[in-house]
Amino acid sequence: MNVTFTRRYHFSASHRLDCEALSPQENRDVYGKCNNPHGHGHNYRVEVTVRGSIDPATGMVMNMTDLDALVGGSVVERFHLANLNADPLFQQEVPTTENLCRAIHRLLADRLPQGKLRRIRIEETENNFFEYAGEAARG
Ligand code: NI
Repeated sequence: MNVTFTRRYHFSASHRLDCEALSPQENRDVYGKCNNPHGHGHNYRVEVTVRGSIDPATGMVMNMTDLDALVGGSVVERFHLANLNADPLFQQEVPTTENLCRAIHRLLADRLPQGKLRRIRIEETENNFFEYAGEAARG
């Protein structure tokens, strides 16, 4: 019997949406204001959902302190007050929040027991949110 546990984290970062394969005009057409040369920032709200059976000894799916240490050390510290375009993860791809979702999923999936990570959900603004559950996700 699997139970899910979701915890919310926050970081603030800047980005500029600009694709190398496109001309400056095409980039302006595709990304609009998000292509502004000076970039812009977001207060990202990241939800990390883990899934598993309840540990009979602790009564928990995952120890919250352990999850905080993991997400803090590998995601929040990495991206808080950073320019996402400068991160090695975004040298080959545009730091859209779709790609950020997938990047965070990879960072955490590699550090959690196999199958434990259920989903990453990121709210970029009050009206935009993105989710990624991995390619092998089952319903
Ligand atoms: Ni943006």
